[in-house]
Amino acid sequence: VTTALPYKVADLSLAEAGRHQLRLAENEMPGLMALRAEFGESKPLAGARIAGSLHMTVQTAVLIETLVTLGAQVRWASCNIFSTQDEAAAAVVVGPDGTRDDPKGVPVFAWKGESLEEYWWATDRIFDWSAEAAASGADWIGPNMILDDGGDATLLVHQGREFEVAGSVPEATDATSHEFRVVLDTLRRSLELSPDRWTRIAAELKGVTEETTTGVHRLYELHAKGELLFPAINVNDSVTKSKFDNKYGIRHSLPDGLNRATDVLIGGKVVFVAGYGDVGKGAAEALRGQGARVIVSEIDPINALQAAMDGYQVSRLESVIGEIDILVTGTGNKDVVRLEHLLGLKHLAVVANVGHFDNEIDMAGLESLPGAERIEIKPQVHEWRLPTGRSVLVLSEGRLMNLGNATGHPSFVMSNSFTNQVLAQIELWTRPDAYPVGVYVLPKHLDEKVARLHLDALGVELTVLTPEQAAYIGVPVEGPYKVDHYRY
Ligand code: NAI
Repeated sequence: VTTALPYKVADLSLAEAGRHQLRLAENEMPGLMALRAEFGESKPLAGARIAGSLHMTVQTAVLIETLVTLGAQVRWASCNIFSTQDEAAAAVVVGPDGTRDDPKGVPVFAWKGESLEEYWWATDRIFDWSAEAAASGADWIGPNMILDDGGDATLLVHQGREFEVAGSVPEATDATSHEFRVVLDTLRRSLELSPDRWTRIAAELKGVTEETTTGVHRLYELHAKGELLFPAINVNDSVTKSKFDNKYGIRHSLPDGLNRATDVLIGGKVVFVAGYGDVGKGAAEALRGQGARVIVSEIDPINALQAAMDGYQVSRLESVIGEIDILVTGTGNKDVVRLEHLLGLKHLAVVANVGHFDNEIDMAGLESLPGAERIEIKPQVHEWRLPTGRSVLVLSEGRLMNLGNATGHPSFVMSNSFTNQVLAQIELWTRPDAYPVGVYVLPKHLDEKVARLHLDALGVELTVLTPEQAAYIGVPVEGPYKVDHYRY
């Protein structure tokens, strides 16, 4: 039986343009291409049906086609309403061998500028494998792996199953956020169609590999409460992920987003960076490199001391609010920029978030502020006229602006992150006995392998230990070279 490929993207006629970008990206993603060469024949992911929820960019397209080369079947949605690159989504649907009239690629449900209702609909689609079931003559199949970024796909399964066990979806209360109301509605419709859909899906799932800091927090919380339903690999805390993507990726894509959104000169300006973790370090360095005077905030004395020793002023937001030209958040926390801060900013100060969710900035408060007026300058750039008579410029409606206003991190750094993702998928899929329900990081030899795969492209000449040297520092010549708690 053949059925038409299900998908929903902006415009399939963008596929050719997308394919050109994919070709260029492949040249910048040596880790993923090495995995295709190593595992393309043996297909370790054969039988894996992966539900993917991760920014549908050009780099992610190369990840998806790598998973397929390794034998997996894949469905994909974006993990953010603004982060899809429509040409990449189109290219993945058409596939390397398909045409616009006969797409042969992967079912993708993602376009730039989704509503929240559309976003959760698309996330729901990656769990509906009825077309694949029909094509294979099976009654029902579900996904058996999740590849997640921020944990929304994992959340849908856990919430869906919880409500099924309870027998109903609870009503929203005054305290329920707009977004969670949409989740409740999505699950209510799902429960009406099938009372045990999520229970069946959860039982099929062999595991999840999680991309980012915020999603990893959610997984450890679920596990601590004893509610995690399947094993998880924390990809974020591979050294070759968080110490590269979060830092060097942001160092590239934050100024890219600022420039494309506003083109305001960064040099000489006062820029405030909330959070001096991996993302904050990359942000501060990039902005200082542009000649800005960077002020950092932290709640952790260790990170605050690091920022000070790196030469930054460390202040509370309220102490310097009237001086700030550009305000950047990258904490992964909520309520970092509150209404009183927004009201205290200079006229036309830029407000930008690179943390995973939009609750770092009190967007809900801004939207319900009497007398505030929102003017669209262009998509993902809004002037908010405030009752004070001043305006602020809010990028990507408070959501990840490096993906909303620009195209996210560049290929080379994402090759490191996504090589970890693929190795984590292979680990969970091929060695389930090694991973009982829990949250794991990849072993260090794989972390070192990811780095190794990226050295040649940069002309790096690695020094090789002599056996005597190796014995002297107590490590094998071929690694791993560091104890697990080494911090890099
Ligand atoms: P991290 O944990 O290394 O750093 C966050 C820092 O914020 C910590 O040092 C913490 O002490 C500090 N912090 C927490 N609350 C604060 C507050 N109220 N004020 C000031 N500082 C505060 O996390 P990482 O890896 O830097 O990630 C941060 C966020 O960025 C997460 O939500 C993560 O998912 C997201 N992320 C976004 C990326 C992007 O492309 N935009 C890429 C990678 C991560």
